[in-house]
Amino acid sequence: MPVDAASTGSGQTICVTGAGGFIASWMVKLLLERGYSVRGTVRNPEDPKNGHLRELEGARERLSLRRADLMDYESLKEAIHGCQGVFHTASPVTDDPEEMVEPAVNGTRNVIRAAAEAGVRRVVFTSSIGAVTMDPNRGPEVVVDESCWSDLEFCKNTKNWYCYGKAVAEQAAWDEAKEKGVDLVVINPVLVLGPLLQTQVNASIIHILKYLTGSAKTYANSVQAYVHVRDVALAHILVFETPSASGRYLCAESVLHRGDVVEILAKFFPEYPIPTKCSDEVNPRKKAYKFSNQKLKEVGLEFTPVKQCLYETVKSLQEKGHLPIPSQNDDPLKIQG
Ligand SMILES: NC(=O)c1ccc[n+]([C@@H]2O[C@H](COP(=O)([O-])OP(=O)(O)OC[C@H]3O[C@@H](n4cnc5c(N)ncnc54)[C@H](OP(=O)(O)O)[C@@H]3O)[C@@H](O)[C@H]2O)c1
Repeated sequence: MPVDAASTGSGQTICVTGAGGFIASWMVKLLLERGYSVRGTVRNPEDPKNGHLRELEGARERLSLRRADLMDYESLKEAIHGCQGVFHTASPVTDDPEEMVEPAVNGTRNVIRAAAEAGVRRVVFTSSIGAVTMDPNRGPEVVVDESCWSDLEFCKNTKNWYCYGKAVAEQAAWDEAKEKGVDLVVINPVLVLGPLLQTQVNASIIHILKYLTGSAKTYANSVQAYVHVRDVALAHILVFETPSASGRYLCAESVLHRGDVVEILAKFFPEYPIPTKCSDEVNPRKKAYKFSNQKLKEVGLEFTPVKQCLYETVKSLQEKGHLPIPSQNDDPLKIQG
């Protein structure tokens, strides 16, 4: 953290929706470290799964947890009132259309409406790569950037309801913000990994956990972009703090084939039953797509390398008791050189 960052947020309150989640917990942590006061919305403040938030440095003095549901406008209005900014991160993360689409879309509209009523300075919305890349007509030479939008019909036809819900929610955020005169900035993270602050394993972490527990016997012939959770949280803060920030920001560090992921994991953690075979031995290996993360670099974000991100993810899963700790004395990072 830069020397003066601890006082950047002094006197300002940010509402973080879904504060107990994987990414939002890191937002709360970094905001508190920068001197902000934080209103975190959770569906149940008494649920022990949100207890980690109260342990964060500065939480006792500057964090308050409010009960709010995305489908309950009054609860959001009460939580957002008096805040200078809103980081809207709460969303279902599921492929069940019933559970996904309505809370993602109407919840986002509710948050923007409440932010307008409260007169907040800026709303930062956590969208997704799912609102960006799901386009079967994009050629291999196209550089994926903030101008790309997922094809809604394609998402529907492939029953990719998570991506559909996130894309429609982002569109709703832009429409609502325009109508209500709200200053909106959007972050589109790719698959997020890194250390967990919360006790429960969230969906994106399972993407890696399955390769370590023996539950995945093979890896898929597909590619995926990755980013560190701390970088995602910091991206939200940087665009909030940069008056000239506007539009969408693609938040991605690298694109890897699953074969690269298992290779990196196996080098760091050879004790786990990490798959060595691709489930598709017929088709050519899928190629990584090109992307640009230049916009976020321009607001000062320095991305954590994906190898470090994978390493920290596994160490965290061990520390939180989600993985057995291998009996090895040496630090694999040192072995790697
Ligand atoms: N992780 C990734 O790879 C990734 C990548 C791109 C974008 N994103 C986006 O980042 C955001 C956070 O994701 P995450 O990975 O941190 O997931 P997470 O740990 O599952 O967090 C999701 C949060 O949303 C809350 N939530 C869900 N439905 C709600 C509702 N109806 N009302 C109020 N709160 C509700 C959950 O609260 P409860 O604890 O009460 O269930 C939880 O705190 C989401 O918008 C997701 O789409 C994630």
